[in-house]
Amino acid sequence: MKADAPILFFDSGVGGLSVLEPVRALLPTAPIVYVADSAAYPYGTKTEAEIAMRVPALLGRLVERFQPRLIVIACNTACTIALDHVRAALDLPVVGTVPAIKPAAEATKSGVIGILGTEATIRQPYVDDLAARFASHCTVVRHGSARLVDLAEAKLAGETVAVEDVRRAALPLFEQAGAGGMDSVVLACTHFPLLRDELGAAFPGLAWVDGGAGIARRVQHLTRDQPWPAQYPGGVAVFTGRIPFAPLLTALSAYGIADIRTI
Ligand code: DGL
Repeated sequence: MKADAPILFFDSGVGGLSVLEPVRALLPTAPIVYVADSAAYPYGTKTEAEIAMRVPALLGRLVERFQPRLIVIACNTACTIALDHVRAALDLPVVGTVPAIKPAAEATKSGVIGILGTEATIRQPYVDDLAARFASHCTVVRHGSARLVDLAEAKLAGETVAVEDVRRAALPLFEQAGAGGMDSVVLACTHFPLLRDELGAAFPGLAWVDGGAGIARRVQHLTRDQPWPAQYPGGVAVFTGRIPFAPLLTALSAYGIADIRTI
């Protein structure tokens, strides 16, 4: 293993930055390649077949190009549909991001938890299975929102995001039968932790649970015997669509990424 071999983060857009951040906190000199599949954004409104066709093939090309030591698929939609296909296709460790139902079910006092994800994620059997395994003692309600994903992208692109817009997009989660008394919400899309402040202001007093810290510990564990550069070499962001506008480039630099490319 070469010290300069990167960790490759993959998402449809900027959501994976919410996973990159805790990983960088544990591994501050790790070389980073952050890939946003912006040409196919958003994933959450696509079909299972589209995601299952696209993601393993694209990751295969990215592995050839960047020779990463490990991949983090920082996207619940891609993972709940295609994680097994990706692992079968690639010969390197792949860390997935799936809804953090287990910690939410452990933390809830009321026994009512919400899952806020994309439309594609919340309908996956993978999520049914997680709920059955870890939250069978809870009432679990779900809502998928493409609007919240767009709002997170807008925020990172420098736009002002109103708390009222976030509230309106997430409200159907709380209006469902059985949702009364909900005290924990799983942020089952990596874009949503980027809106944690707005969500907290819109719906005060709830616990918002995401998998970022657990994924960071997993990456640290899997790379525990590997060498790292003495200093952070700077991160690379790769967009499959056009280069984003200046405010997003500024936001990326706050995550340690200044080298922006397209493929
Ligand atoms: N960030 C992604 C997720 O975790 C997908 C958002 C999208 O492209 O719809 O599900």
